[in-house]
Amino acid sequence: EPKVITDKDEMRKWSRTMRSQGKIIALVPTMGYLHQGHLSLVKEAHKHAHVIALSIYVNPSQFSPNEDLSTYPSDFHGDIQKLMSFPSAVDVVFHPYNLYDYGNGSKENFDDGVVSCIENSGLGHETWVRVQKLEKGLCGLSRPVFFRGVATIVTKLFNIVEPDVAVFGKKDYQQWRVIQRMVRDLDFSIKVIGSEVVRDSDGLAMSSRNVHLSPEEREKALSINKSLLKAKSAAEDGQVDCEKLRNLVIQCIAEAGGKIDYAEIVDQESLEKVETIKNPVVFCIAALFGKVRLIDNMEIKL
Ligand code: PAJ
Repeated sequence: EPKVITDKDEMRKWSRTMRSQGKIIALVPTMGYLHQGHLSLVKEAHKHAHVIALSIYVNPSQFSPNEDLSTYPSDFHGDIQKLMSFPSAVDVVFHPYNLYDYGNGSKENFDDGVVSCIENSGLGHETWVRVQKLEKGLCGLSRPVFFRGVATIVTKLFNIVEPDVAVFGKKDYQQWRVIQRMVRDLDFSIKVIGSEVVRDSDGLAMSSRNVHLSPEEREKALSINKSLLKAKSAAEDGQVDCEKLRNLVIQCIAEAGGKIDYAEIVDQESLEKVETIKNPVVFCIAALFGKVRLIDNMEIKL
């Protein structure tokens, strides 16, 4: 059974003890409601470290007031069971109650939309980490505070856990690139690993939010992966015109009844839009099925 730590000072103490014993420490940050995608990150972490800390914390600052913070699924007991039955073990589960409560709570220091999400937690937090260009496109367009919330909480987790390695899923491709860039720009001494997307047998990328899909919506949502695969093979067969590839995907998802937020072909590193595929690109999609917003992507390298 993994050791559960809820206190940040205790977390840091554990980590420093491990380091003094010469152990390489990996952190796998999550918001819980674990599935095989999360567990694959634990498996990946074992390739790079001796001990693994997995954090479970639904971070309020990455949700806008109109988003699904209150309905974000959670099942801490179930998560522990899953971790225990998975062959690659984690050593510690870091499960803090509120990482923004410094005991001197004051709402005054909060700016714009994030306030209402975190005001219940009574805080005095006013420092934000922003990755200015990378945070803007793709998911950043419809979720303007998302990446600063992510970059800030990941910074806090890095400072609490002090890992040598941190593992992120390429399912959240832009998030992975944002963190990678932040680590480079701010000289964190942490190796960031991007781990492959894990899919259900029908091709749907695993996500904690998939539980909110009705069986019909789920069936329709398969159009995302199907159309991405079509686009990938069209590209491999010589169709390098991104406009044409995008239309293929947009049409396929729209026909299935999905509402597209974005469907963009971007450079794998800069995440800037590309017109013709020359360098490695990634085809990124966000679409709504019913009320559920799903994201997925496909790397294309010719
Ligand atoms: P969460 O959505 O719980 O995801 C935690 C980690 O699991 C992320 O790195 C994500 O990319 C990865 N992941 C999720 N589904 C995956 C899949 N199908 N295949 C591979 N990896 C997958 O992402 C977050 O939480 C938060 O934003 C967080 C980084 C924890 C900051 O709050």
